[in-house]
Amino acid sequence: MPPRLLGAVGWSLGAVLAALGAAAFLLLVLTAAKDAALPARNKYGLVFDAGSTHTALYIYRWPADKENGTGIVSQVEACTVSGPGISSYADNPAGAGASLKPCLDKAMKVVPAEQQRETPTYLGATAGMRLLREQNSSKAEQVFAEVAKAIGEYPVEFRGARVLTGNEEGSFGWITVNYLLETLVKVSITGKWTHPPTEDVVGALDLGGASTQITFLPGTTIDDSSTRALLRLYGTNYSIYTHSYLCYGQNQALKRLMASLHQVTTSSLISHPCYPRGYQENITMAELYNSPCVPAPSPPSPAQVLTVVGTGDPVLCSISIQKLFNLSCGANRTCGFNGVYQPPVRGQFFAFSGLYHNLHFLNLTGGQSLSLVNATIWQFCTWEWEKVQNEFPTTNRTQLRDACAASSYALTLLLRGYKFSERTWLRVRFVPQVANVDVGWTLGYMLNLTNMIPSEAPQRVIGLQRSNWIAATVLLAIMLILIFCLLTVTCCQKSSSGYESL
Ligand SMILES: *[C@@H]1O[C@H](CO)[C@@H](O)[C@H](O)[C@H]1NC(C)=O
Ligand SMILES: *[C@@H]1O[C@H](CO)[C@@H](O)[C@H](O)[C@H]1NC(C)=O
Ligand SMILES: *[C@@H]1O[C@H](CO)[C@@H](O)[C@H](O)[C@H]1NC(C)=O
Ligand SMILES: *[C@@H]1O[C@H](CO)[C@@H](O)[C@H](O)[C@H]1NC(C)=O
Ligand SMILES: *[C@@H]1O[C@H](CO)[C@@H](O)[C@H](O)[C@H]1NC(C)=O
Repeated sequence: MPPRLLGAVGWSLGAVLAALGAAAFLLLVLTAAKDAALPARNKYGLVFDAGSTHTALYIYRWPADKENGTGIVSQVEACTVSGPGISSYADNPAGAGASLKPCLDKAMKVVPAEQQRETPTYLGATAGMRLLREQNSSKAEQVFAEVAKAIGEYPVEFRGARVLTGNEEGSFGWITVNYLLETLVKVSITGKWTHPPTEDVVGALDLGGASTQITFLPGTTIDDSSTRALLRLYGTNYSIYTHSYLCYGQNQALKRLMASLHQVTTSSLISHPCYPRGYQENITMAELYNSPCVPAPSPPSPAQVLTVVGTGDPVLCSISIQKLFNLSCGANRTCGFNGVYQPPVRGQFFAFSGLYHNLHFLNLTGGQSLSLVNATIWQFCTWEWEKVQNEFPTTNRTQLRDACAASSYALTLLLRGYKFSERTWLRVRFVPQVANVDVGWTLGYMLNLTNMIPSEAPQRVIGLQRSNWIAATVLLAIMLILIFCLLTVTCCQKSSSGYESL
């Protein structure tokens, strides 16, 4: 081949490569510019937790392109609805709807206007509504109709209001905490999905106003299928134990405690060993016996006034609380309480909501030993009402009145009810939040209903876009080097051939 021709071929090859390189470079610059102009788009989700004592709205946010990742959902806001739980609006259902509006208004300020129409919005109700439905299902329907109407007035994608079963409440709480801890699946920085060992999975302990839930991976077969939930998450099957005890939430339990103290007297004077000495209040029979958890005596006398006097007696308080639990296992080999099957507790547990709040009030959520927790509660239960008020001047009366009863109840529930021991006590961590997200069932509920926890581990790795970038950069570098080499070669060839022709 003549040298001149070789030079021409070299030049055209060089030109083609240069054009390719320029195109790749342009593409890269354009992608980079687009990425910079459009920061990873966020998606939002709203979940109302309609509990027995109050309602809260949780606003969650996550990057749209990482939808199925782990630990990427954050909590933007938790709005507490003022007033009581929606089940208290049984005789004024419209009031339940109206009560939600301030929090919905707040959400409309948080979620950008152009995204509101695609923001999935849920309302889940728990034990308070389970009880109302038991009492009068048409009243419960009316309350749901009104809250649905109120949410429907906002430009969100409302996906319904309903009552969660106790098992769902337990399971979703368990999913929430394990999702936040990334104990189900972990994504490394290279985008590789790994399953942490099942020992890393933690149990969930929840205490609400009307019910309490225990959920954990027992590691043995679950003998009673009504307490079993089979979940397939990220390609792994989990057979979890879960049970919800209706009427054993804090408010209902303390009401039942009061009723049992009333039933052992023949007078209208109730001596309350868990109320501080010096505390006194009047309640009516109607107020005390207003719940299906507390069977009314017959004949009923709703207008009768009862006088409750605190005696601040930790021994009697503890005994009275224990009487709320039937500790006989019946036909079951192992049980929780009231004859409900429960395998022995296993592994680490996260305790949240009421369990956290009750013990946190007495500074007992820092991993204190069981004996210190016991001693502190004991001591507090002997305090006079005046001392209690002086020590906690900013805490409201009801919380102060109930602090001894509530913390004693939490301890009895864990030890007698759920069968934690001196040995397993330190495996319970009391937390309000994990990764800045409130722990409860709401996040797990939303993750499930938006399919954000796939049953199979995704094939496509999360870090794909990053690796794209790396590949493009490497490609560009190789191209540039190639072009440079070719240009040098052809240039030298041209000059040498030029000399020849001279
Ligand atoms: C997440 O998973 C679901 C179902 O597995 C799928 O339809 C969806 O496209 C995935 N989303 C992303 C962003 O990968
Ligand atoms: C349930 O409530 C409705 C009013 O909403 C009332 O008419 C009805 O009698 C109640 N039913 C029962 C069983 O109490
Ligand atoms: C306690 O539970 C056992 C077994 O479930 C049952 O047989 C017994 O009647 C219960 N006792 C009371 C006082 O409810
Ligand atoms: C808890 O700790 C705080 C600060 O450490 C203290 O002010 C408060 O009095 C403690 N409460 C109790 C009940 O010990
Ligand atoms: C989550 O949703 C799936 C259906 O998408 C269902 O099969 C599964 O049981 C749900 N998980 C829980 C804990 O309810």
